[in-house]
Amino acid sequence: MSVHSQAKRISVPQLMQYKGQQKIAALTAYTAPFARLLDEALDMILIGDSTAMVGYAMPDTLSITVDQMAAHAAAVVRSTQRVCVIVDMPFGSYQESPQQAFANAARMLAASGADGIKVEGGAALADTTRFLVDRGIPVLAHVGLMPQYVNTMGGFKAQGMTDESAERILQDAQAHEQAGAFGVVLEGVAEALGRRITETLAVPTIGIGASPSCDGQILVTEDILGLSGDRIPKFAKQFADVASVIRSAAQQYASDVKAGAFPGLEHCFGVKK
Ligand code: KIV
Repeated sequence: MSVHSQAKRISVPQLMQYKGQQKIAALTAYTAPFARLLDEALDMILIGDSTAMVGYAMPDTLSITVDQMAAHAAAVVRSTQRVCVIVDMPFGSYQESPQQAFANAARMLAASGADGIKVEGGAALADTTRFLVDRGIPVLAHVGLMPQYVNTMGGFKAQGMTDESAERILQDAQAHEQAGAFGVVLEGVAEALGRRITETLAVPTIGIGASPSCDGQILVTEDILGLSGDRIPKFAKQFADVASVIRSAAQQYASDVKAGAFPGLEHCFGVKK
C-alpha cells in the first residue's frame, strides 16, 4: 500500500516519507493540458524553469520571470488534484539575499497555490534555504548541474567527475539538508556520487541524470514524449512519439480544410436537422 491513502493532494511531508518506502515519480508540466494528464500517474509535478527553453525557445533558463513562472504554476495547480506541485524560482529572484528570496517565494506561492519551491545553488545558498523553511516555505534544493549557473559552469556539463568536485557536491546537498530542505534534486552528476548522496541524506534525492539509486526520478515531460526535437539529453528516455500524432492530426485537419470537408454542418450553429 502507498504511504498516502486519502484521495487528496500529496503534501511535502508525505513526499518525504517516501524515502526508503517507494520511489518518487516526478515530471515537469507548464500548462493545464499536460498537468491534467499527468496528475494521476505521478507523485510530484515541477513547474521547471526549463519552460524558458522548452516552452519559450530561449537559449537558456536565465530570462524567465517570477510572473511567468507564477502564471504557469497557477495553471498547473488549477488542473491537478493529487500531485504535490513544486515550482522553480527563476534566476535572479532569490540569489541576492534571504529576504529577497522570501519576498519572491511568498509571492510565487500566493499567486500559484503551489506546495513548495525549488532553488538551484550550492552550500552558499543554504542560509537562504534555512530562512525560507523557518518562515514556512518548503524548499527543494537543486545541486550538481545547475542550469542557472550555465555561464559560470561554462555550459551544461555533467558534474562531480573528480573527487574534489564530488566532495563539494556532497557537501552542497548536506548543507541544504541541514538547512531544512525537504529534498534535493541531483542533476547531471556521476552515478556513484548520486548513489552516495542518496545513501548519506535522510531526505529524498530526486535524480535527473544522476543514479537509479536516487529516491525519485524527474524528467522533462517533452523529452519523454518526443516533443523536444533533436535536443534529447543522454539521461532522458523517450516513452512515446507524440510528435507524430500531432503532425498527423495537423495534416489531416489541413487537408480537410482545404478539401472543404471540415467543418461539416454538424459543427455549425443554427442549422435545422
Ligand atoms: O527546470 C527543470 O525542468 C528542472 C529539472 C529538475 C527537470 O529543474
